[in-house]
Amino acid sequence: MGKILLTGGCGYIGSHTAVALLEAGMEVVIADNLSNSSRDVIDRIGTITGKKPLFYEMDVCDGEALSRLFSQEKIDAAIHFAGYKAVGESVAKPLAYYRNNLDSALTLLETMAAHGTRVLIFSSSATVYGDGTPPYQEDMRSGICSNPYGWTKWMIEQILKDAAQADPTLSVVLLRYFNPVGAHESGLIGEVPRGIPNNLMPYVSQVAAGIRDHLNVFGNDYDTPDGTCLRDYIHVTDLARGHLKALEYALDHQGTEIFNLGTGQGSSVLEVIRAFEQANQLTIPFEIAPPRPGDLPVSYAATDKAERVLGWKAEKKLEDMCRDAWNFEKKLR
Ligand code: NAD
Ligand code: UFG
Repeated sequence: MGKILLTGGCGYIGSHTAVALLEAGMEVVIADNLSNSSRDVIDRIGTITGKKPLFYEMDVCDGEALSRLFSQEKIDAAIHFAGYKAVGESVAKPLAYYRNNLDSALTLLETMAAHGTRVLIFSSSATVYGDGTPPYQEDMRSGICSNPYGWTKWMIEQILKDAAQADPTLSVVLLRYFNPVGAHESGLIGEVPRGIPNNLMPYVSQVAAGIRDHLNVFGNDYDTPDGTCLRDYIHVTDLARGHLKALEYALDHQGTEIFNLGTGQGSSVLEVIRAFEQANQLTIPFEIAPPRPGDLPVSYAATDKAERVLGWKAEKKLEDMCRDAWNFEKKLR
């Protein structure tokens, strides 16, 4: 078998997926411009697995550079992680988000076509479900996005569906991630937010580390059991295993399939705080703050399709996610 290209493979989810693929005996090539990651991730992947992925430092929007990579390596499949992902920043800089996210996807698709690579896995997001009612089923109506980041995911999904429709030899898997958290149990790779974290778990970790003095809980008057929002938090190593299963499926099928990657369980913000405190035996000071604009009260996945078709199910619990997030945070300091 040839190699698997991971665009954005130095990032949070890509690096954990690289570990899962290498441990399954696959050969991995990473293309990343390091705009939100660092080169030492390559060495860390090597330390964990005993095998170092091939690394191309490049922008995936650069068609000539990508074509050179495809000429040098025999790529059987690509997993497209590369892109910008900060929801708030996408509202402030929509053009940068449309340019980078759409351009990288189109350039990858065109380059794959020119070099005869037929299999593509795409990192989509639960955000495409918009205002539907959870549990979100893959065939529910999507596309009421509340921010440019979400729209880029929805648009790329549509582009990939159209491409696979036009070329029946293509195999496309769209993975809709819920809320990936935690880190590899070694503490060598994990999420490294730049600046003040937007997301809950990295913020809680920084409060635990004393970098922030308290957590603001955005709203406690939602129509949920304790009034705070419910999310489907999934351990990043479970998510990485999901990519391996999706890849095996895609290598064996044609057409487009969509899979949720979540646990199917909603946890509230207060439950996350409590789980973090219990798993790590510390206290997280918090204050109730006004709701954050755009937040949905409840989001969680229907997981039956991924279980039935891919034979994949998340295994790790909220406590595992909190323990591994803190283990990684401690090693950063
Ligand atoms: P990340 O920022 O850690 O990783 C993305 C990687 O892509 C980074 O290493 C960055 O340097 C690289 N990159 C960005 N633009 C590039 C370009 N033009 N050329 C080459 N490299 C480029 O993000 P992540 O959390 O690992 O997310 C991976 C993918 O999953 C993204 O597409 C993201 O939108 C999607 N996703 C993430 C989440 C989440 O909560 N983390 C949820 C749903 C979907
Ligand atoms: N929250 C706080 N305080 C914080 C940060 C978050 O109370 O400091 C709350 C939020 O209000 C929300 C929950 O914690 O109720 C989770 O928030 P995150 O920002 O961690 O996650 P979101 O569900 O808002 O966003 C995630 C991804 C996005 C994706 C979105 C929808 O980060 O990329 O899911 O799928 F678009």
